[in-house]
Amino acid sequence: MKLSVIGAGYVGLTTAACLAQIGHDVFCSESDPEKLAQLQNGKMPIFEPHCENVIAAARKANRLRFGSTEDAIAWADAIFICVGTPPLPNGDADLHAIEALARTIAKRVSGYRLVIEKSTVPVQTAAQLRKHLSVHRTNGLTYEVASNPEFLREGTSVQDFLHPDRIVIGVDSSRAAEMLREIYEPIIQQKFTCPLHSNCPKRKDPVFLVTDTNSAELIKHASNSFLAMKISFINMVANLCEVVGADVAKVAEGMGLDPRIGPAFLNPGIGFGGFCFPKDVQAFIRIAEKSGCDFSLLKEVEKINQRRVEHFVETVRKELWVVRGKKIAVWGLAFKPNTDDVRFAPSIALVNSLLDEGADVRAYDPEAMGKAKAVLPDITYCSDPYQAAEGADAIVIVTEWDEFRQVDWNRLRSAVDRPLIVDGRNMLDATEVTRHGFHYVSIGRPPVTPGQPPSSDEHLVISADHSGNGL
Ligand code: UGA
Repeated sequence: MKLSVIGAGYVGLTTAACLAQIGHDVFCSESDPEKLAQLQNGKMPIFEPHCENVIAAARKANRLRFGSTEDAIAWADAIFICVGTPPLPNGDADLHAIEALARTIAKRVSGYRLVIEKSTVPVQTAAQLRKHLSVHRTNGLTYEVASNPEFLREGTSVQDFLHPDRIVIGVDSSRAAEMLREIYEPIIQQKFTCPLHSNCPKRKDPVFLVTDTNSAELIKHASNSFLAMKISFINMVANLCEVVGADVAKVAEGMGLDPRIGPAFLNPGIGFGGFCFPKDVQAFIRIAEKSGCDFSLLKEVEKINQRRVEHFVETVRKELWVVRGKKIAVWGLAFKPNTDDVRFAPSIALVNSLLDEGADVRAYDPEAMGKAKAVLPDITYCSDPYQAAEGADAIVIVTEWDEFRQVDWNRLRSAVDRPLIVDGRNMLDATEVTRHGFHYVSIGRPPVTPGQPPSSDEHLVISADHSGNGL
């Protein structure tokens, strides 16, 4: 099938690359001329693992090309909308790019198109799209609108696209459902040449869930908001653990063993960031408000998250006593590992807060420093974790890059002025770190000093009594 993908951000690029990988002819458009030129010259405007290789292979096989929106919509049978929906000052999603695209399609296209919204949009956007395609059409367009929310995590988006748990489509006709089923058939059957694995790990085939467009749109916002809620929940549990002297890792482990809760998204830290959770929680609150539902639960989720950085700065302050004049090595700037994205990254508020208090901030991130320089111009950028730690009074971990687990602790010990690590992601092994002479402070767990073992890692597992002779 001839497919076009409008918008070459993380979602659009991954979608275009993977749809080509599973056998479709894809035309991807980008409105930013600089980005478009980069893509046409075989360069990647973003860092997203595996995406570059999949794109290169698809272009070589003549199954993927980049060009203008007008050409993309004129060419395809189905159009995937992957344009940005950034937050407006009042928290609503800004839908102007989607509206403008609807007008262009209505005015330029003749014949049938399936218009598929993949961008994260408020419920009832498909209904608005239908209305505006109808209002503006001048050229004999016939169309259907479907919702097909994405569940791609930055850093693992290719894996998530090709091996998903579910594919959700919202449609109002069997023709649209059949077209989408045909598009996704190789993924539903898990039958395609996988660029990631020679032998794909055996998993359950993805569920293909067909629903109406309103429900599909809600599934996306409800899913992201629910995950954000889990994070804020465990972050509050972490605060409690710090006060009462419990270990949040153990609490999360114990909770996650209940299959009704599950272990995922129970990692405490300095808060969720990125271009999805913060704006989607906000947008979901607004959607509820406008529908007359007070979703105050989500307002708390947001508030708890907004307080994370300040709580973390307080932890650093407690250790350093006076922050002014202290050299602080900040490890990690991206909002999560395996991406160069710093949008709504907790690192930005953290670094600004440390700078306000007069700290000398020396940062290192394996991928995100280029993008960080535009928003954090007043810090020293370093070429590796050791350079950042040179003469430091504290190493502060903001993003859990694997590279930080593999450092040479002896080299690091001799680089720092004071051997103190404040780990905002609970990523390090306390025993290993303290063995090398570091004082280790993490989230929701008692601090550990050299010579003092961390609270026992031994599990007291008492096998479950299935005999019915319980208490
Ligand atoms: C998120 C969702 O996970 C995807 O399913 C969704 O498609 C995507 O948003 C989107 O709407 O486009 P993403 O923002 O890439 O994906 O990243 P996540 O892995 O979900 O992490 C989001 C934030 O939560 C990060 O800052 C991460 O550090 C934080 N987090 C995550 C925690 O603090 N604790 C956790 O246990 C998990």
